[in-house]
Amino acid sequence: MILRRIVAVSKEAEVQHLARRLGQEIFIADDLAEALDIIETVSPDLVIFDARFGPGHIREFFDTTDKNSINAPVVVVGDAENETKLSAEFIRMGAVDYLRSGQDYNRLEQIVSRIKNKAKAVDSEANADDFFAEDVAGSVSMVGRSKAIVNTLKMIKLVALSRCNPVLIVGETGTGKELAARAIHTLRYPGRSRFIGINCAALTANLLESELFGHVKGSFTGADSEKTGLLELAGAGTIFLDEISEMPIDLQAKLLRVLQEKTFRKVGGIKDIVCEATITASSNRNLYNETQANRFRSDLYYRLNICPFTIAPLRAPERRQDIQLLAEYFLKTSTICPEKSGKITSLTKLAIEALQKYDWPGNVRELRNVIERAILLETTDKIGLSSIVIDSLESGGLVNGPVPARQNHISDFSLAKAERELIARALQETGWQKTQAASLLGITRATLYAKVRQYNIEKDLHIAKASRDEVTAPSLPQPVTAL
Ligand SMILES: Nc1ncnc2c1ncn2[C@@H]1O[C@H](COP(=O)(O)OP(=O)(O)OP(=O)(O)O)[C@@H](O)[C@H]1O
Ligand SMILES: [Mg+2]
Repeated sequence: MILRRIVAVSKEAEVQHLARRLGQEIFIADDLAEALDIIETVSPDLVIFDARFGPGHIREFFDTTDKNSINAPVVVVGDAENETKLSAEFIRMGAVDYLRSGQDYNRLEQIVSRIKNKAKAVDSEANADDFFAEDVAGSVSMVGRSKAIVNTLKMIKLVALSRCNPVLIVGETGTGKELAARAIHTLRYPGRSRFIGINCAALTANLLESELFGHVKGSFTGADSEKTGLLELAGAGTIFLDEISEMPIDLQAKLLRVLQEKTFRKVGGIKDIVCEATITASSNRNLYNETQANRFRSDLYYRLNICPFTIAPLRAPERRQDIQLLAEYFLKTSTICPEKSGKITSLTKLAIEALQKYDWPGNVRELRNVIERAILLETTDKIGLSSIVIDSLESGGLVNGPVPARQNHISDFSLAKAERELIARALQETGWQKTQAASLLGITRATLYAKVRQYNIEKDLHIAKASRDEVTAPSLPQPVTAL
């Protein structure tokens, strides 16, 4: 009995091994924040949480997942000594079960089998595999059967097996770049090494440098102790440099050196450290254009461009056929509304047509949000047109029903403007609850912080004003203190 995706929140080899026995794709998180980020991206079927984190951390985990309507079943694996007292506590917090490590594993298999059967019941006619392209399905969980996605999946396999390093993934926001990076990692290092992601837009130059490279004690004010950088922590795994185009130019030179020499030094250090990790970078800007505008070093661009691939936007003619498939997939797999689970079985023809007419500037993430909203609104067993509510930025309000196909003239299409307004709207709707707003937008908190600074969004900014104002060119990120 094998589940598609399991997230193991544990540093213990035993727990990770257990996850590997029961899942096709395993994602290992070392701490709470990493777990929440992974869960948001991969929507796992099961989360195995190590009780060694302690009830406080696990309570925080459930608080955040509850608030964000994340509903992956959680099993806590713990230690036999504290069992009786703790197990009741964890189950009260929302865990499906508490297992003693090294024992009770048959019980976990029963839980896995229950999850599997439930998924089958939800999956009334279609088999989950119907959502995935043939041949390339395997452990890569990217929904799509269009020519564009089949080519992307082939590329993912080729890149993973070729050991090509660095890897560059380009595509608009929400197209699945992080999903692709994780897929390459899973194929390249089945179930072992770490995948460590860092958003280059979320930190100041100094912070990003010390996060990536580490620092020696006393190398700058505040460096009270030695720090290991993420490049070293990733070991022989993957370091995922999200939004590489936002990396400060000085740091770009240092990254180039890592790519050329495969070694680096801690800030203030003199010892060369070997970098064994695969460096995967993602960008939603055209990096070549960035080099022309002198915002991105061309030598780094050419170095990164050895193994590039682009994920097509959903509106691209060669990807449009995936819209229906993705919508049905999100309908079947969403956990946003457990009480409706399995009751809404399909979408009406008109609803599908409306989805197909829309341009999806936020791509797959936006489509997932629209489907989840539709699940919440729908009262019958089929998602109808009236439940498809697309946050139309051009008409300045929420629009129900048929969505006019947008013109594809380049002057009509300002992703930055759309993004800014959507973020301002989400913040306003949630009363500036950043975790909630990030969840609404389908982005991580770190990305939200970075975007708020990038677009200069202020608390009392009126949405209407935000939409009228020209969006200024994104400036370099300002110091971030509260990540
Ligand atoms: N082909 C796909 N099949 C299923 N889910 C997908 C697919 N592509 C993207 N998603 C889902 O859409 C969401 C956004 O994907 P992801 O975070 O990988 O996008 P991204 O390109 O990194 O976006 P950004 O540039 O904004 O960081 C995630 O929840 C992901 O699981
Ligand atoms: Mg991303």
